[in-house]
Amino acid sequence: MDLNGSKPLMKVLGGHTADRPPFWFMRQAGRYLPEYREIRSRHPGFIEFCFSPEDAAEVTLQPLRRYDMDAAILFADILLIPGALGQNVRFVKGEGPLLEPSLSPTLVSRLSAEGAADRLSPIYETVARVRRELGDNKTLIGFAGSPWTVATYMINGRGTKDPSAARVFAYREPQAMADLMEMLVSSTAEYLIRQAEAGADVLKLFDSWAAGLPEPLFDLLCLRPNVEIARRVKAKVDVPIIYFPKGSGPLYLKVAQSGAFDGLALDTHMPMDWAKRELGPKAVLQGGMDPLLVVEGGKAMRDEAERLIATFEGTPYIFNLGHGFVPETPPEHVAELSRIIKGI
Ligand code: CP3
Repeated sequence: MDLNGSKPLMKVLGGHTADRPPFWFMRQAGRYLPEYREIRSRHPGFIEFCFSPEDAAEVTLQPLRRYDMDAAILFADILLIPGALGQNVRFVKGEGPLLEPSLSPTLVSRLSAEGAADRLSPIYETVARVRRELGDNKTLIGFAGSPWTVATYMINGRGTKDPSAARVFAYREPQAMADLMEMLVSSTAEYLIRQAEAGADVLKLFDSWAAGLPEPLFDLLCLRPNVEIARRVKAKVDVPIIYFPKGSGPLYLKVAQSGAFDGLALDTHMPMDWAKRELGPKAVLQGGMDPLLVVEGGKAMRDEAERLIATFEGTPYIFNLGHGFVPETPPEHVAELSRIIKGI
């Protein structure tokens, strides 16, 4: 693991402090950038776009050209894994993802993790292309969805603001849920190992739907599967892992105490002093900035960025958002935020 070399973000992930926090932004590549929309418009489908290494590599690099962040995040999506397991996935304009058919226990038994990581090989080509073009001082972040978060889409069949269908499934069909989790753990671990082998310096697990689970279910469906993925990945490749158990509140503490992750990504409503005191000693912290403040810009954005930087001063901290940029974000506000973080 290159935690002492020339990459500022890797140094901080290795536990060192820096003069200013290294930074990148969730959804830094995406619809708020006109140059993204231009390339996106050449592709009829979003999945097919993710599987086009030349264009996917290009949009991965676009935000760094504008803002010179410390890291690029692979352009892909967490919903590629369901397709690789045998569920049909497509994105419908104006509606979001559609996964068909939505899962029943019988359908779970028809999915298979066998060969799933091989079916995602264009993604490794994107990683390799980006790594070739990125400077030595820049970090490349690979990623996957966490099993529970991916399962919520597979069970519900579409994007939703409420993952309760998956929770009911977990209570009613514990064996099918366990089988699905095992398929997701093994395919995701293999997928992340292949990204690291292709050149990803860091790996991130997105558990965007970790909020609201009773503690036993959180342990079963969030903590344990992600710890297991980290264990399998680290048995094969020497790469730091960041976990994002979004909205899990005090359960972040259990995640930190597991010792399985090098970094923990914070959501926007995390009390930052608490995070620094309780989580900071056990993992490097990242994130927290409200993406809606970047829509707003101006003094409110500056004040919050400065609050976060001051809170974590003297500790290893990676500046980021608490969730992704929304499409209405003005690109010039991102430029201003980048200058604030760089102190220029
Ligand atoms: O810059 C980056 O962050 C890299 C690429 C990236 C995308 N999705 C591209 C994308 C990453 C890291 C993701 C992760 C992702 N995808 C998550 C976890 C993080 C989070 O936001 O909570 C989730 C839950 C998804 C699933 C997903 N992808 C949904 C529900 C949607 C549709 C809703 C929407 O925002 O449009 C997507 C589509 C998607 N993924 C887009 C992008 C740039 C927009 C689609 C488009 O351009 O047509």
